[in-house]
Amino acid sequence: MRNIGFKLLVLFLFIVSFCLVPPAASANFTQTQLDEITQLWQTSAHALTEVNCSSCHQNAETKQLIVRPTQESCRSCHEYTVETFLLGKHGIRTLEGLSPLTPAMAHLPMKESAQDLQMSCNTCHDVHSVNTSQAAVDSCLVCHNDPHSLNYKSSPHAQIVELTSLPRPNQDAVTCATCHLPREKVGSAILVNHNNTYVLKPRDRMVKDVCMNCHGVEHSYNSIFDDQLVESNFAGPPTQKMQTFQLVRDLEKKRSSKAK
Ligand code: HEC
Ligand code: HEC
Ligand code: HEC
Ligand code: HEC
Ligand code: HEC
Ligand code: HEC
Repeated sequence: MRNIGFKLLVLFLFIVSFCLVPPAASANFTQTQLDEITQLWQTSAHALTEVNCSSCHQNAETKQLIVRPTQESCRSCHEYTVETFLLGKHGIRTLEGLSPLTPAMAHLPMKESAQDLQMSCNTCHDVHSVNTSQAAVDSCLVCHNDPHSLNYKSSPHAQIVELTSLPRPNQDAVTCATCHLPREKVGSAILVNHNNTYVLKPRDRMVKDVCMNCHGVEHSYNSIFDDQLVESNFAGPPTQKMQTFQLVRDLEKKRSSKAK
């Protein structure tokens, strides 16, 4: 009970402080908007772990209100996440102090309706509900519009688990994020590597870090170097044969004997 009282106090102070911001610096939020946000937050992992409005909306040192926090407000608790996000294609412009990435800047096909969406933590997660199941597929398809991305939902991987019923993707699920924002062991924790470029270069990094959690090495290699299969988002078995794999093996052997 004490905790609930405390939370309500924080909320009250927060709303009051919104009213105290001078009009020029503030945006006007209706009570309905604040209620909606509070509702989303109340059932989130953050509310359960006592991460309150002020955890993100108040500068820890100056105590000043931040109306629209950036990824810097997440850093104190999610250092690895923020660091990895900033190093991938999605975040690198932000790291360099440029305006955030938008689909309008892309060479890959993107949804017309998303052209001006700015990339931030809030683009994939609603920062108030911090839902990760929705972030793992549906959020990507708000922007991405190439054949590979569009074919995902009808692929065998998408049929493994029904994602919409889960609070977060489980270990059996293969989502866009399983392949592109893979989970990694960081110290004793399993965290999501938010660098969306990391597993693409070299391409077979994804084999080791992702596919081989479930498939054999040969199936994985044969699949990932099959461009048509990638385009279909792995709709069926690889058509490439072991031969290719044998070549890789021979090459490796040659290389290692040279190194000796
Ligand atoms: C995990 C951090 C976090 C917590 C906790 C949090 N917020 Fe936010 N909030 C943000 C971020 C980040 C944004 C900026 C979103 C954006 O980029 O538009 C934001 C935006 C807002 C906005 C502006 C919305 C808009 O349309 O521009 C309001 C109002 C708000 N939050 C209220 C609240 C209230 C009330 C609470 C507590 C019930 C809360 N927030 C808890 C991170 C947080
Ligand atoms: C005061 C510490 C704190 C701050 C600040 C904070 N978080 Fe969190 N966050 C947590 C904790 C604690 C958890 C729950 C434990 C866990 O899963 O690590 C969590 C969990 C999450 C999750 C996973 C939710 C789930 O259901 O698995 C997401 C996504 C998330 N936070 C995003 C953010 C974003 C985005 C920001 C900044 C806008 C932010 N957090 C700011 C502490 C914080
Ligand atoms: C491109 C979409 C996308 C963006 C942008 C994004 N996330 Fe995530 N995030 C995800 C997905 C998807 C998951 C869950 C993946 C899974 O569970 O396999 C996740 C999981 C998390 C988690 C829980 C797992 C963990 O590593 O602790 C946290 C915390 C989190 N995100 C914070 C953030 C923060 C902070 C930012 C901004 C720096 C951010 N996210 C930006 C898609 C995104
Ligand atoms: C706000 C729109 C937006 C969302 C949401 C989004 N992306 Fe992207 N993504 C982009 C843009 C823009 C690019 C850059 C494309 C280009 O340069 O042609 C990109 C690039 C990528 C790349 C290529 C990276 C590289 O280094 O070439 C991958 C992979 C990717 N996104 C995966 C995802 C996944 C997975 C999700 C969901 C978890 C997601 N994206 C969510 C806009 C988005
Ligand atoms: C089973 C793993 C897997 C899944 C699931 C998956 N992808 Fe991919 N994705 C790949 C591989 C492999 C490539 C090809 C990498 C290359 O060409 O170097 C790729 C390429 C991409 C690219 C193009 C990168 C570039 O620069 O050309 C984007 C964008 C992308 N995926 C987004 C998504 C989205 C969005 C989803 C979900 C709707 C998704 N992917 C699901 C494995 C996956
Ligand atoms: C979490 C486990 C998991 C991960 C990770 C995973 N897969 Fe799968 N994959 C499966 C399951 C389960 C199936 C469905 C098998 C079936 O229907 O018989 C499947 C099916 C496939 C198929 C279709 C096979 C067929 O015969 O129709 C291909 C191709 C494939 N995966 C390639 C990959 C590649 C490449 C990666 C890495 C980029 C990958 N998978 C990552 C579990 C996984």
